[in-house]
Amino acid sequence: MYKLNEKVDRINTSSLKWDGMKLAFGKNELLPMWVADMDFSPPTSVIEKLKERMDHGVFGYTIANENTAQAIVDWTNNRHGWEIRPEWILYSPGVVPSIGMAIQAFTEVGDKVLLQSPVYTPFFNMIENNMREVVNSPLQLVNGRYEIDFADFEEKLKSGVKLFLLCSPHNPGGRVWKKEELVKIAELCKKYDVLIAADEIHADIIFEPHHHFPLASLDPAYQDFVVTFMAPSKTFNLAGLQASFIVAPNEEMRKKLTIIQQTLNLTSLNTFGMIAMEAAYRDGEEWLNECIAYIEGNINMIDEEISRSLPELDVMRPEGSYLVWIDCRKTGLNDQQLRESLLEKAKLAVNFGASYGKGGEGFIRLNPACHRSIVEEGLERLKIAFGS
Ligand SMILES: Cc1ncc(COP(=O)(O)O)c(C=O)c1O
Repeated sequence: MYKLNEKVDRINTSSLKWDGMKLAFGKNELLPMWVADMDFSPPTSVIEKLKERMDHGVFGYTIANENTAQAIVDWTNNRHGWEIRPEWILYSPGVVPSIGMAIQAFTEVGDKVLLQSPVYTPFFNMIENNMREVVNSPLQLVNGRYEIDFADFEEKLKSGVKLFLLCSPHNPGGRVWKKEELVKIAELCKKYDVLIAADEIHADIIFEPHHHFPLASLDPAYQDFVVTFMAPSKTFNLAGLQASFIVAPNEEMRKKLTIIQQTLNLTSLNTFGMIAMEAAYRDGEEWLNECIAYIEGNINMIDEEISRSLPELDVMRPEGSYLVWIDCRKTGLNDQQLRESLLEKAKLAVNFGASYGKGGEGFIRLNPACHRSIVEEGLERLKIAFGS
């Protein structure tokens, strides 16, 4: 048993979630249930490997060796049934940097890049910062869950889009796309010659009975136009160590990505990130399964308490990822009023839906990957924000 239920004080550790609230919200005196990181320590084996390396005491340039690649190959195979080859792997400090690299490698300034809002805010930022045009095919809310409007998706692909940024599983809605949905996406992109960058950073945290399928694994033909981004950062709470990887089976696409990495000299991993990634993928599964069960308990508590005490809120239970997307539109509060209620009245830091693009207005995103007492406190604060 891991000590997931042990409270770790993160204040004054340069934690974005705990120490960065002043910058994000104007004050630190809030309960932090925002940004997607967990308050849990990673598996002990990861910490032990890091300590061992720390004790060695020399921290020169690092080169990822075949053991790192093999740990990734084994993980993707065992966890997702996807057989990848070591030579398809490129390393990257993060998935957001990888999105930027894909945009630069596969499109030109002014080109159209497709996304599906509401979606993780940096999708918009990376397209716009790279001076490409955002094309949006908003997700549809059907019976409280997000679905893809395939007629609109096809129209947008036809309009000259070069690259589609897929979020799978979906942040913020927690959808784990079904095999049929993914096949439809890939077939349409193939038809219109649109490349796909699949952000699958949340792939490892899936709740029963859902199942994550890496898009590129569904048909060998997809490997020619799909690159996939994965990482141990969400899975094992290692975001500060900045280690992730890209799976690019197609040689031409891989070469283009490599050229972008070389122009930035971003080809190697941080020593500790590499060690943590390998150790987590080698020995972290038991910890992960316990962690998922603990988070699911927190989500159950949120779901039940909100249904009981806050009937104006609708919880979209995540099928995957550890984020809870809550529809607050029945409260009638606009985004500014939501911010006031939560930040000023209740002193609860959440992510506000408007920043996820069209369809996100009136929603909030709550992060339950924390000690249960914080979830309890967060629920009390939600009642202060929205209770009569
Ligand atoms: C969909 C998605 N992609 C990427 C990231 C961040 O990736 P990284 O920290 O590796 O840049 C997040 C973090 O919340 C995310 O939800």
